[in-house]
Amino acid sequence: MSTIVIVGTQWGDEGKGKVTDLFSENYDIIARYQGGSNAGHTVVLDNDSFIFRLLPSGVLYEDKVCVIGNGVVLDPEVLFQEIENLQKHGIDVSKRLFVDYKTHIIFPYHKIIDEILEENKNSRKIGTTKSGNGPAYADKFSRTGLRVCDLIHSESLAPKLDFLLEQKRDYLAKIYGIDLTAEQIKDIKDKYIHYGKKLKGFVMDVSLFLDEQIKNKKNIIFEGAQGAMLDVDHGTYPYVTSSNPIAGSVCIGCGVSPMHIDKVVGIAKAYATRVGEGPFPTELKDSLGQKLREQGNEYEYEPETGRPRRCGWFDAVVVKYANRLNGIKEIVLTKLDVLNSFEKIKLCRKYKIGNKIYRNFPADSELINLIEPVYEEVEGWEEDLGNVQHFQDLPDKAKKFIQKIEDAIECEISVISVGPERTQTIFK
Ligand code: GDP
Ligand code: IMO
Ligand code: MG
Repeated sequence: MSTIVIVGTQWGDEGKGKVTDLFSENYDIIARYQGGSNAGHTVVLDNDSFIFRLLPSGVLYEDKVCVIGNGVVLDPEVLFQEIENLQKHGIDVSKRLFVDYKTHIIFPYHKIIDEILEENKNSRKIGTTKSGNGPAYADKFSRTGLRVCDLIHSESLAPKLDFLLEQKRDYLAKIYGIDLTAEQIKDIKDKYIHYGKKLKGFVMDVSLFLDEQIKNKKNIIFEGAQGAMLDVDHGTYPYVTSSNPIAGSVCIGCGVSPMHIDKVVGIAKAYATRVGEGPFPTELKDSLGQKLREQGNEYEYEPETGRPRRCGWFDAVVVKYANRLNGIKEIVLTKLDVLNSFEKIKLCRKYKIGNKIYRNFPADSELINLIEPVYEEVEGWEEDLGNVQHFQDLPDKAKKFIQKIEDAIECEISVISVGPERTQTIFK
């Protein structure tokens, strides 16, 4: 039996979806513990590409059970869209996809508030995904949210919705001057009563289930969303998400004891990206950044509508920080192939701030904007890695780059990903 947590070590989009799908073959249960539909986890299988925002990325294996823990904020519209999309691909999730009773629900007004808060911030925008995540977590902690267990009881739901929607209507009008029409309110009410009925077939006490499965010696993956640098406590606040992506959050977000977590695996890109605003010490704003973006296909979700991701060199200070926060024992290094055509590759081992050298990510956010990355340069391998299957077949220059990263982050790289497909993976 083993339980592992898969976490992002940078600013999200490290390839957690690919790795979770890949590892799922040897696991029985895959659980999401935080975040919501702000996530976008890509799994490429044969000629199909799936982007999971809520569903655990192991869902393509039809013998796996997938659960969404209480720590997630759930947009029912996205959930049912994802389920329908899988149905269109002939993949059935009934009786193997479950959502916790205590999971909080995202409503359309959360998305409206997410958008308005961003608009009102002008130059201090976070660049959120506008999926309503932040406002839904805010309601959770203000104790004004509704949860899955509220939605599934149709008799008591109607008065709860009436009260809540009236309250929110009042709030939006008074604070933001936005008038929700009676028709919009009715529409939300009808939709959520309908979602509640549909959700009935998916509810579960996730904490109890996982405890039983752990006792039955089942193998479980806890799939993190976002990454350490987006953690609301430990990331580059306020340019962060509204939950804790780090591994400790599994215990809260799935109701699992810390005694039951066996291992934490960190996912790191061979370079760095960030989507949205906020500090990014190794960002490349020049043509090299553009080259990384193009080679790495660094566009959020569908390339035609997606936001471009900011790109830069690998930042070992950041990944070392993520290792500390998560207790990472192994790193999966992804997208090494994206560097195939670079003559020179840099990696940042330390920061210079003023005339002081920092080997650890500063906790004082005043310092973060003053960071000057100190780079080490290595020779690029300038050949295609996409078909390499064994570590010994990697060019020496690529091996040297991997070794340099391992030294800098003080952690072993156990798996190297050289393309989006399951098969494009090297187990070291
Ligand atoms: P996640 O949010 O951490 O799951 O990552 P995303 O799915 O948002 O972004 C990772 C992107 O890189 C996706 O388009 C993946 O299909 C792709 N990808 C994952 N691993 C590799 C790799 O090793 N090489 C290349 N070229 N693409 C990869
Ligand atoms: P995955 O799981 C990359 C970023 C947003 C924004 C900030 C806050 O695919 O790695 P939010 O909507 O959460 O309030 O936005 O966090 N962000 C992500 N960036 N990958 C993600 O998820 C992200 N989820 C949120 O771009 O900067
Ligand atoms: Mg993503």
